[in-house]
Amino acid sequence: MTRLSGITPSGPGHVGNYLGAIRRWAREGSPDDLYFVSDLHAMTSPYHPQKLRGRTRELMAILVAAGIEPGTLFVQSDLLAQLGPLTWVLECGCAFGEAARMTQFKEKSTDRTHEGTPVRVGLFTYPVLMAADILLQGVDEVPVGDDQAQHVELARVLARRFNGTYGEAFVVPRAVTPPAGARIRDLADPSRKMDKSARDSAGVLFVLDEPDLLRRKVKRAVTDSLGRLEYRPEEQPGLANLLDILAACQGKPPREVVAGFTSYGEVKDAVAEAVVEELRPVRERTRELLADPAELDRIRAVGGERATERGAHRLKTVLRLAGVA
Ligand code: TYM
Repeated sequence: MTRLSGITPSGPGHVGNYLGAIRRWAREGSPDDLYFVSDLHAMTSPYHPQKLRGRTRELMAILVAAGIEPGTLFVQSDLLAQLGPLTWVLECGCAFGEAARMTQFKEKSTDRTHEGTPVRVGLFTYPVLMAADILLQGVDEVPVGDDQAQHVELARVLARRFNGTYGEAFVVPRAVTPPAGARIRDLADPSRKMDKSARDSAGVLFVLDEPDLLRRKVKRAVTDSLGRLEYRPEEQPGLANLLDILAACQGKPPREVVAGFTSYGEVKDAVAEAVVEELRPVRERTRELLADPAELDRIRAVGGERATERGAHRLKTVLRLAGVA
């Protein structure tokens, strides 16, 4: 059983990424897995090259600090020479309507954060590049949060279609989502998911935020005026989100976590402390790693080489079957 997953450096990593994805990659990963920073995906909306480099490095450090086996880590752009051709092959097997159905594209292409800037073709084809990331490596499972499950589904469709049309080249992978923490919401606006590139970071708990800032953000989280201490995501999304975070930190179901509290204030205090303690070792270790650029460069080089070697044979087969090599 091998797994692969990635994270895009479109902003600093947050607690949704951590609880929904990174922590599981660290806990459940094996030495045959692959985890990576998808810097090519960050180019799909306006960005600054220098900032992108810095964020890629920072996320690599967070992944190492979270306990992911360093030998399994790489940076997506180090595989550009393989991903470019494979993405093209897969794009030629993907219907326009299939890409247009992707919820994330629909949301991001109408997002007002970048109002006035044109929507990039890369944003539209991004799920196909993601399919290339996955299919190049022949993995069985793709551990992601809820928001990426639809993209993994597209990768399955494209893999089956290629195998059926041109010959067996791809393993058909499946998405696996966590039982708790699969969709953490913005604390200031629980109708939105917690997002790295949110315009306002008041409701986003970043992995590298200092403890006091984390506490302040949790204290200001939007709840409701019902005063009912129950887990009801539809009726009380703000409170339910806090309970989801606490549940994910404690490894219990949210309905169990809510018992024992007598006020929203108590819930917030418990969430703040749980998040601070969960993130403290990761933040401290990330800071140490960022102070040692040579070590991060070494990890990146080793992982990149391993992933490139692993993908080479499959790409050759695909191009041959597709009639272009
Ligand atoms: P990205 O960077 O948006 O998110 C990284 C991981 O974090 C999960 N996640 C969340 N989980 C819970 N609550 C949230 N609010 C939340 N926000 C994000 C995501 O589901 C994801 O698992 N396109 C991908 C990166 C990628 C990839 C891949 C993933 C590129 N190629 C191949 C898997 C396989 C992305 O932008 O994730």
